[in-house]
Amino acid sequence: MHRETARRMVAPGRGILAMDESNGTCNRRFAALGIDQTEEQRRRYRQLLVTTPGLGEYISAAILYDETIRQTTDDGTPMPQVLAYAGVVPGIKVDIGTTALARHPGEKVTEGLDGLRERLAEYADLGARFAKWRAVIAVGQSRPSRGCIEANAHALARYAALCQEADMTPIVEPEVLMDGDHGLRACAEATSRVLGRVFAELSTHRVDLSGIVLKSNMVVPGLDSDERPSPAEVARATVETLGEVVPPNVAGIAFLSGGQSDIDATVRLDAMNRLFPDAPWTLTFSYGRALQRAALETWAGDPSRVEDAQRRLLHRARANAAAARGAYDPGMDEAA
Ligand code: 13P
Repeated sequence: MHRETARRMVAPGRGILAMDESNGTCNRRFAALGIDQTEEQRRRYRQLLVTTPGLGEYISAAILYDETIRQTTDDGTPMPQVLAYAGVVPGIKVDIGTTALARHPGEKVTEGLDGLRERLAEYADLGARFAKWRAVIAVGQSRPSRGCIEANAHALARYAALCQEADMTPIVEPEVLMDGDHGLRACAEATSRVLGRVFAELSTHRVDLSGIVLKSNMVVPGLDSDERPSPAEVARATVETLGEVVPPNVAGIAFLSGGQSDIDATVRLDAMNRLFPDAPWTLTFSYGRALQRAALETWAGDPSRVEDAQRRLLHRARANAAAARGAYDPGMDEAA
């Protein structure tokens, strides 16, 4: 089952909607737009996303947060059921966030293994078919450290094994962050070291690679770098880096958007699929910000703008689904 779910999640020409922002992150984005930071507003916003007409045409799966998986739409239907009816596989973020890694200034480790077996069973009862765990890796002077890479890779592997034991598909997400002024080369090196270690740990922990989805960062310069690589340069650096360390039997790779603009995230994914049509894995998206940004800004808490916001979400989903096939037409965004 975990293999079959993985295949559905990375089915060609569709991608994953990351809507698993913690309450803290969701509230920060709401605050910036003057939206009330209440459970009810978060429910209305997530309802807007999951009830978008036609979502399932471009979106294969959606990652929910603990609060959302327990919520219902106005008519009382649980959120995971709304997604399943729309042909979108529901999943759940199961890590409980990051904490400072002791004796490693500026580095973090992700927590949430304690009691995870029991929590996975509960989430499966609530309708989740896959899970997500995100590790964050900072790049900078003498970072990432060996301690940071090993601690996070070990946790990712233990999480992934627990998911497969529960017949749920793990999204394995080691995110090399865009914060900083490092160049593309430094991102490539960090990504390569991190993924190398992650796959070593996954193997040690007997994780079935054809039943995981790798959620990776693209290989890009830091947000404060002066480098401005072309989409083709990012595509090449990313696929070449991944090609050296990601085994070909991994079900698929779904990229996160990190701090990229909506258009960059689309154009770079498109370039990868155009330049590497024969890559061993499906290359698709699992975007949070790059799918939701325009929709959230359009809604801004106003019930009369729900349909407009849903159109914005569907537009980005369609553009990225096209990019997942290497068939994105920039005209789609000029017209919008
Ligand atoms: P972004 O695409 O906004 O980076 O979010 C994806 C995600 O799930 C981060 O964990």
